[in-house]
Amino acid sequence: MNSDELPFTKQQILEIIKNYPTPFHIYDEKAIRENARRLYKTFSWAKGFKNHFAVKALPNPFILKILKQEEMGTDCSSLPELMLSEKAGIIGENIMFSSNDTPAEEFAKAKELGGIINLDDISHIKMLEESAGIPELICFRYNPGPLKEGNAIIGKPEEAKYGLTKEQLSEAYKIMKQKGSTRFGLHTMVASNELNEDYHIETAKMLFELALEIYQKLGIKLEFINLGGGYGIPYKPEQKPIDFDKVSAGIKKEYEKIIVANGLEPVKIIMECGRMITGPYGWLITRVRHIKHTYKDYVGMDACMANLMRPALYGAYHHITVLGKENASKNHKYDITGSLCENNDKFAIDRMLPEIEIGDILAIHNSGAHGHAMGFNYNGKLRSAELLLRENGKIVKIRRAETPKDYFATLDFNKLSEFNP
Ligand SMILES: Cc1ncc(COP(=O)(O)O)c(C=O)c1O
Repeated sequence: MNSDELPFTKQQILEIIKNYPTPFHIYDEKAIRENARRLYKTFSWAKGFKNHFAVKALPNPFILKILKQEEMGTDCSSLPELMLSEKAGIIGENIMFSSNDTPAEEFAKAKELGGIINLDDISHIKMLEESAGIPELICFRYNPGPLKEGNAIIGKPEEAKYGLTKEQLSEAYKIMKQKGSTRFGLHTMVASNELNEDYHIETAKMLFELALEIYQKLGIKLEFINLGGGYGIPYKPEQKPIDFDKVSAGIKKEYEKIIVANGLEPVKIIMECGRMITGPYGWLITRVRHIKHTYKDYVGMDACMANLMRPALYGAYHHITVLGKENASKNHKYDITGSLCENNDKFAIDRMLPEIEIGDILAIHNSGAHGHAMGFNYNGKLRSAELLLRENGKIVKIRRAETPKDYFATLDFNKLSEFNP
């Protein structure tokens, strides 16, 4: 689906709004499933290929259950994400636990679920041993430092807090082997939202070469290589989606040249993509509440950055459609704003759109990953509902909107009346 396409009409959204007030995120199950199948098909040459969906991108157990049916595992980064994975029935080595600055109890939970633990640092071995014991299978996150260029969102690898250096990596495998681990994996994640196919192929090549080096140095044959997430999506209409056939063919070529030719086969290829799995198949649906004309023309929505933070956080572009005005000429320049007391609470700045009226409904595209998930409660703003557009056209509410009661859930007002400052 292109970044400016929609799987619903204004009429359908008006029907949905009768039961589910705006704002809400809506996800397209059919498109998510088709996309998952396309990814698996293109990597069908790689035996045991699996995407561990990065739960942080869309931490909703209904979505995880769909992805489980599509043969995906999870990539979890915290205790609640591990619990979500468990709730969705994704356990054992279908879980990749890629955390950093990890508390002991999270190692214990990951081990209890039988997940693959992906250590972010050599010093974590001690805590892992004390809190969960030494697992049979262990993975390490590699940070190539100056050996690999980063990208705009994630920054330079040598400035990134994640992962082990090459020297530490060899030492870490050696230690874990001595301590009793018998199965090993390797992981990296050096980019975020990267659309360049060659970049991803080069990352795979770098890891395959490292696998060979580890084998030659330590006699360890890796069981899997986790290429990470970070595969981009075209947020802007003029951007092209990643050509996954090209990525897959490029990775296959390197796999044959480095892994197969050196007798290291079988090494499973794993990914932990979030954004490219669900990102393009979610929309934030929001209604125009106010329009003000001061030094600029502002359109005030009933959603705010608590519902979708990427534009405020990164200046990220999210395409916007004014429902029912898809073919009208885009001859008005607007800032599309939320209601938070932060001047960067803007979904778009100086965006050319058709003339907007109060009550119009806007679809903010590509909200299916790192959208609702990034929400927060600053200014007492409440997170919206999440809806699923099923393959049969039915709507299922997969998360209700927060209420003030949720906002107050961590406060004890009984104690407040007893409190005499
Ligand atoms: C360790 C790790 N894996 C996977 C992902 C998913 O990235 P994306 O959703 O861009 O594919 C992230 C995102 O921050 C991450 O930190």
